[in-house]
Formats: sequence, C-alpha cells, structure tokens
Amino acid sequence: MKGTIFVELVKMAENAFGEEVVDEVLSKADLENDGAFTTVGNYPCTELVKIVVAFSEHSGISGDKLQRMFGHWMMDHFVENYEEFFVGMTDSFSLLEAVDGEIHVEVKKLYPDAELPVFDTERLKDDQMKLTYTSPRPLVEFCHGMVEACLERYSQTAEIERCPVAHQENATVFDIKLNQ
Ligand code: HEM
Repeated sequence: MKGTIFVELVKMAENAFGEEVVDEVLSKADLENDGAFTTVGNYPCTELVKIVVAFSEHSGISGDKLQRMFGHWMMDHFVENYEEFFVGMTDSFSLLEAVDGEIHVEVKKLYPDAELPVFDTERLKDDQMKLTYTSPRPLVEFCHGMVEACLERYSQTAEIERCPVAHQENATVFDIKLNQ
C-alpha cells in the first residue's frame, strides 16, 4: 500500500493519542521498519493491520472502530489534497459512483503501484444505492468509514446495512438508504 496511507494513519493516532504514545506503541508493534513510514514508500497491508491492532490494544478502541475513524480521516485528507476529484460532485451517491470508474482510475495513473479495491454501484431508487466492495485486503471497516464520510461531506445521513458476499473474503454489499 502507498506510504501516504501509513503516514496518515500515524498522524491520526498522534492526533488522538499524542506523539509520545504513538512512538511507544509503534516501537513495540514489531513492525518491519520500526514504524518509520514515508509518503514515497510502499508497505504491505499486513503492517497496517499490525498498527491498528497495536493502537486498539493500547486504547481499548476496537480495531473496527479505529479503521472506521481512519476512513473519515482519509476522506478529509483526500478532500484537502485532491480537490479536483470532487469537482462536479453534488451528492454522496455521485461521488461513490465516481470512485471505481473515475477517481481510482486517475489514482492508478498517478501511482501505478497503488493497490485499489473494486466497487460496483447500482441505484436501486433515487434515495437508495447498492455498493459492492471487493478487495483482497481486510479493509471493509475502513471502507465503511469512507462511505460515512462521503455522506457527511454532503450533509446527508443514511441507514447503512451490510451483508458479506458468500465465498469472497472481505467482499461486502453496502445497502445505503438516504434519510430524507
Ligand atoms: C479523491 C478521492 C480519493 C482518492 C484520491 C483515493 C485514493 C486512494 C489511494 C491512494 C488508496 C491507497 C492505495 C494503496 O495503498 O496502494 C486508496 C485506497 C482505498 N480507497 Fe480510495 N480514494 C479516493 C476516494 C475514495 C472513496 C470516496 C472511497 C469510498 C468508498 C474510497 C475507498 C477506498 C478504499 C476502501 C481503499 C483501501 C484499499 C482496499 O480496500 O483494497 N476511495 N484510495
């Protein structure tokens, strides 16, 4: 995975727990590079999972919750750093529909070694969308946080139901029904 993801995860942890705690937790987390991540590097997703587990053990916040928080954090980061991808997006559904066919396509051009998930979207009604997430990485909770953050960005709220896809680890269907 791109180093940016790791750098931002560490920043989120610093923001939540303070720099000293982060140094201590990372040094005990048995990481391949002792927790020194750079934006230009690439690191295995297993390291990301180790970091989440370490902060979960330290804070008592579940790993799932931390991943979701991180989804919100990354959305803010993307909004700040990739403004152009949000031009013309008027609501959360248009943004979610653009991720697979437009946004992540551009991301892949910028960073050919990026490891991206696959999204399939289907509008069931004006106010209801089925979003199927598929990835070899165990980041469904991170994805859930990103979806929530997309809604928040457009001041929308929704009921989100999740259903795993049979025989496909990590793959999940999000049924998103907007509240009016
Ligand atoms: C401007 C918007 C966005 C940018 C620039 C962006 C960029 C990226 C980048 C650089 C990665 C990491 C790839 C790697 O580590 O190699 C990533 C991963 C990911 N992105 Fe996006 N993304 C954007 C929007 C979204 C949105 C709106 C979603 C909503 C669901 C999303 C879902 C994900 C997920 C779940 C991953 C983790 C990888 C995985 O699950 O396999 N992204 N994205």
